[in-house]
Amino acid sequence: MADKPARSQKNFGKLDRDGFIHRSWIKGTGLPEHVFDGRPIIGICNTWSELVTCQFHLRDLAEFVKRGVWEAGGVPIEFPAMSLPETQMRPTAMLFRNLLAMEVEESIRANPIDGVVLLGGCDKTTPGQLMGAASVDLPTMVLSSGPMLNGKFQGRDIGSGTDVWRFSEEVRAGTMSLADFMGAEAGMSRSHGTCNTMGTASTMASLIEALGVSLPTNAALPGVDARRKALAHLTGMRAVELVKQDVRLSQILTREAFENAILMHAAIGGSTNAVVHLLALAGRVGVPLSLEDFDTIARDVPLLVNLMPSGKYLMEDFCYAGGCPAVMNEMGNLFRRDAITVSGHTQGQIADAAQVWNRDVISTREAPFGPSSGVWVLRGNLCPDGAILKPSAATPELLTHRGRAVVFESIEDYHARIDDPDLEVDATSILVLKGCGPKGYPGMPEVGNMALPPKLLQQGVRDMVRISDARMSGTAYGTVILHVAPETAAGGPLALVRNGDEIVFDGPARTLDLLIDDAEMARRRAEWEAVREAPTPTRGWSRLYVDTVLQADRGVDLDFLVGKTTTEVTRESH
Ligand code: FES
Repeated sequence: MADKPARSQKNFGKLDRDGFIHRSWIKGTGLPEHVFDGRPIIGICNTWSELVTCQFHLRDLAEFVKRGVWEAGGVPIEFPAMSLPETQMRPTAMLFRNLLAMEVEESIRANPIDGVVLLGGCDKTTPGQLMGAASVDLPTMVLSSGPMLNGKFQGRDIGSGTDVWRFSEEVRAGTMSLADFMGAEAGMSRSHGTCNTMGTASTMASLIEALGVSLPTNAALPGVDARRKALAHLTGMRAVELVKQDVRLSQILTREAFENAILMHAAIGGSTNAVVHLLALAGRVGVPLSLEDFDTIARDVPLLVNLMPSGKYLMEDFCYAGGCPAVMNEMGNLFRRDAITVSGHTQGQIADAAQVWNRDVISTREAPFGPSSGVWVLRGNLCPDGAILKPSAATPELLTHRGRAVVFESIEDYHARIDDPDLEVDATSILVLKGCGPKGYPGMPEVGNMALPPKLLQQGVRDMVRISDARMSGTAYGTVILHVAPETAAGGPLALVRNGDEIVFDGPARTLDLLIDDAEMARRRAEWEAVREAPTPTRGWSRLYVDTVLQADRGVDLDFLVGKTTTEVTRESH
């Protein structure tokens, strides 16, 4: 920083009425006179909440960040941002990711802050906080809350989410008792921290490391591990240095950094939700990133990490096996080694210092745990603006499939009919769910991995091709085609599919087509337009959201939030 006064000096450096107001009131928190001498003010943006076990311990971690900030000569000031409990919020936490981003952006810009440490962890908090911070572009670091300990049930490990979906199907199939199902509940979440599978939270924390915006080991250290407290301390120290060196977020979040995130995503078998989050983040910092980048950049990266839902281990095992730095080490030159990070080291230096400690958990590239993974990006007359599928979580035999559509017009229609023994469906059918996109639900919920009809489960069927404009939980699995764009509510062709239509899905060719001719498509579109209804939210955040939200291929950000604004605020408050 040295050459120019700290940003916070606009408030604290003035010996006049305005300076009096800014200093006097904050002195009420116990800060002494000498801390207003221009040393960096580090804002600690905390999404702590008792509604979310994933972030239950963040007040505790914030204290360790503060120790580090003080030690390095800065001044820590903690402030809150809304928490987004994935398992509690209705209709879906995703509806509020952009609201969190707005809150974080404006809180940082409006306040006397020189640098920021973002404390979050549950699925949407990490991207929401980082998107907001990126639109201000101060020196910024992320400290994640860390995963829960491994779940335990009847003598074995069970994983957040993944085993919920599995057990729930077993109960519906009649092969698991309700008593056992309830018994698993208490053993799944044994500590605070984020989901212990490679779900969205763990994926985003891993991508944070790959992007270079946290210190190494941030993703996998369990939330209760004492080393996470030490990491918090070191993060606080480093945040002060970033301010002194004026290393802004935009210098870290380069195209190379996003490429590393996509490479890491493939190697770990990451959540499909990362696609919309990275696209939205890239839009904030102005890095060109397309849906196809997720398919092409990572095509040579095999699945290296054996974690649920693609494999069998959990985040605690991943930590002990070496975590993300070890994955980077194994990826070698595939990784963009010159990319700089907030640690002051390049990704290559971080990778070189790491080692894999358990080859069952992190495999070699020569004998990978799975074939080329990542995300497949599909195109066709059913998804002109794209759709995605996670091949590592799918059934290989279903990756090329032709079947007749069983259509559900809404989530309510699905719930009303899926258990009906008379539902006309067989194992070759393709389940199609409409009305679950960003505008339609609203908020694009995680319902794309719709549960299968009980009568097929009882026949032993455990996977079917499913298509929707929804997302799915990062902990889920199956041959599930997601994020169809444009969505139903925006007039995408998905809206025109009818029961019994034939659909052809060719994964290796990346195509998804509805087998009706153009004339029939046009006729159906005219009929659909004639009965089209206006968006249902009439006021408040939901109304703003449906009016301005972008489609999945553009990250589901609000159209007016794309990009960034200067950190400068010229006018005084009094
Ligand atoms: Fe918060 Fe899974 S519910 S990380």
